[in-house]
Amino acid sequence: MALILGLESSCDDSAAALVTSDRRVVAQRVVGQNQAHAPFGGVVPEIAARAHVEVLPGLVTQVLDEAGIALDEVDAIAATAGPGLIGGVMVGLLTAKGLALASGKPLLAVNHLEGHALSPRLVDPDLHFPYLLLLASGGHCQLLEVRGVGDYRRLATTIDDAAGEAFDKSAKLLGLPYPGGPGIETLARDGDPRAVPLPRPLVGSGEPHFSFAGLKSAVQRAVAVGTHRPVDVAASFQQAVVDCLVDRTRLALRRSEAPALVVAGGVAANGAIRSALADLAAAEGRSFSVPPGWLCTDNAAMIAWAGAERLAAGLVDGLDAPARARWPLDPAADTVRGAGVKA
Ligand code: KG4
Ligand code: ZN
Repeated sequence: MALILGLESSCDDSAAALVTSDRRVVAQRVVGQNQAHAPFGGVVPEIAARAHVEVLPGLVTQVLDEAGIALDEVDAIAATAGPGLIGGVMVGLLTAKGLALASGKPLLAVNHLEGHALSPRLVDPDLHFPYLLLLASGGHCQLLEVRGVGDYRRLATTIDDAAGEAFDKSAKLLGLPYPGGPGIETLARDGDPRAVPLPRPLVGSGEPHFSFAGLKSAVQRAVAVGTHRPVDVAASFQQAVVDCLVDRTRLALRRSEAPALVVAGGVAANGAIRSALADLAAAEGRSFSVPPGWLCTDNAAMIAWAGAERLAAGLVDGLDAPARARWPLDPAADTVRGAGVKA
């Protein structure tokens, strides 16, 4: 049994966690920065990096104290090494390097997307490779075949905005705070999902890629009309996202022999999205797995767990491990052409 200390700092959450290789979350803390970024309506990279510098070392001390564990009792130190806002990534990775150097323990430089991708296995011991993963977060919307630790094949990605980005931008149009997903989900409960006609970009197209920029623009026009109730705009928007995710994921499932469908990333915290994808998996004869909400949004337990999986596979990193702003899970995946391509 190995005990891994994990650190996360790639966006606007500072987090530390202690996780065992037999799936026990011994201690974990997440501190968000919403208040610091609120006046700017989005995450300001420079402010985020400074906040990680102030908060992260204290979180490490807190999780060790809470667990009653000394640093030299930890077996390895894992940190997000990318992709993400480079200043924040550097803060977390350098903190981990310092701890690894001081304790003589191995460093695990974890891809944040691999943290999301493997997170369902932390809570579901019956989830084996391969599985088809819908990874939907603030920065990414991808369909990946997860074949093993470090072995990913990307089937699809977004040609413009990520699903979470669409939630955040639409929420802003409705006057809701960042991040917008939880606010839209709450509003949508009291609205009519058929009240506002909105497009379903790329639904029915031959490759399972995603597009959300046009949906956001349609929300912008619907809000500008001024006659729709915000609850109806929220419900109609959320339904459009559900329809896009279900249609694109169905196509990818039909191209994959993976026996399980898995959803991860911040957008997977959404109840309507979870239940629609559970129904899709059942209709396509696949099992379904989704982590609990706290494990979907950014956290350090998933980084520690990905570290545990990498340690077990012998994938340890040197102290020269680079911080990467961009770091695709499937380096062989083709660039997808669209308006404002994202990797
Ligand atoms: O995975 P995550 O915490 O950070 C990234 O790696 O991007 O994802 C954050 C994204 C945000 O866009 C946020 O609005 C979205 O996840 N999100 C949600 C919900 N909770 C968070 N989207 C829809 N419904 C939710 N309940
Ligand atoms: Zn994330």
